[in-house]
Amino acid sequence: MKDKKAWSGRFSESTNPLVEQFNASVGFDKRLYRHDIQGSIAHATMLGRQKIIAVNHARKIVKGLKRIMKEIETGQLQLSVADEDIHMAVEKRLIEIVGAEIGGKLHTGRSRNDQVATTFRMYVRDLTDEIIHLIRQLQRALYKQAKQHIDTIAPAYTHMQPAQPIRLAHWFLAYYEMLDRDTSRFEDSRKRLNTAPLGSAALAGANFPLDRKWVAKQLGFDTVTKNSVDAVSDRDFAAEFLFATSMTATHLSRLAEELIIFTTMEFGVMELPDAFCTGSSIMPQKKNPDVPELIRGKTGRINGALVAMLTMLKGLPLAYNKDMQEDKEPVFDSGDQIRVMLRLAAEMVANIKIHPGKMANRAEEGFTTAVDITDKLVMAGAPFRDAHRIVGRLTRVCIDNNMRFSELPRAEAFNIDPRLPEIMKNSVGAAGSTNMKDVIGGTARRRIASRLKQMEKEMAKWRI
Ligand code: ARG
Repeated sequence: MKDKKAWSGRFSESTNPLVEQFNASVGFDKRLYRHDIQGSIAHATMLGRQKIIAVNHARKIVKGLKRIMKEIETGQLQLSVADEDIHMAVEKRLIEIVGAEIGGKLHTGRSRNDQVATTFRMYVRDLTDEIIHLIRQLQRALYKQAKQHIDTIAPAYTHMQPAQPIRLAHWFLAYYEMLDRDTSRFEDSRKRLNTAPLGSAALAGANFPLDRKWVAKQLGFDTVTKNSVDAVSDRDFAAEFLFATSMTATHLSRLAEELIIFTTMEFGVMELPDAFCTGSSIMPQKKNPDVPELIRGKTGRINGALVAMLTMLKGLPLAYNKDMQEDKEPVFDSGDQIRVMLRLAAEMVANIKIHPGKMANRAEEGFTTAVDITDKLVMAGAPFRDAHRIVGRLTRVCIDNNMRFSELPRAEAFNIDPRLPEIMKNSVGAAGSTNMKDVIGGTARRRIASRLKQMEKEMAKWRI
């Protein structure tokens, strides 16, 4: 056999080249090298501490592993398909460096099954922390805009039809709240992720007196897994990561959709910075919102990654199956996409131009204070359902006469209901309407101001 594999002992034929390619994951799992080597360093050191291998052998192994880390970082070490995966590639190189007599001892009491489970958890843990940090940045940008736009009155919609006026701050902060749930989802899944499988070996546990807890601590894990069969087949952490990512992407996509709508000629209440748009190859007048469109578009493949992961897992018998090698690319791709999406979303939010005048105008259109007139009738003693009918009629009359509420002659209003002229005379307008929503979570100015204060306290506690 030309290229001897570490596991070639029981084989008499060499691997079919197409199989070799099909089987290999090194092309993508090479990005696990840092975590893999860290894991191996901890494992080797522990083997020495436990006298499972000689301490000076453990030292040589660790030295060799550190050298490999540098070789990969500087691009000196070329990884090839024949190496199968990053774990085999590192081990092969270690044996080249320190010799088979010593290097061949690294894998004592370990299987690639517990190795890859540990390595991948470490990778997803770092990715999770980075994403939490990026979400926080976006939340900060939203908070800043909200603070600036507490007195900007904006139209809000249901069914994309004008519904009620709100303060623009309230709109920004709606996204803040969504993203707050996202960070808590990532933090929560991180807790379950942070358990070390190393020591579970192939599936049954190891025949050597491994100090699993010591290794786990070295690698920043809170604890060790409690069942070796589960430990090597558990990819819940990857699925949870992908769900949290999908949810975050979905929130970004909804934000993107709103930015696209609000910056159209038709709405024109916001404007995207030029730096986030592109022109058309034929239509000279165009400024296209490519960035929010791509955020919206990429959410599709991020959701797809979650489905790919769940589908890959759903029929798997215990314990490790090669199918599980398919767990990485969805995580890598979704991680790559969401990081850029979050960064761009934060910059877009920070730099979006708002047209407060146009916005306030829009907020007054579409009879958005209808609920307020209705509620004032209720406050004057009318049952809500009657009041609803009265204001419905009022709206109908205004639409037929192409008027706003404020333009309807007193007599006409009186005809609909004698209480209306008085109520409408004291019309509060869109800004006043917002201040009537004086409940916790409402869009009244003082409620938003107090939520902003709370947020300042929350933000002061953020660790990343
Ligand atoms: N490259 C493999 C993966 O990502 C590593 C584990 C392989 N284990 C095995 N028994 N073939 O899943």
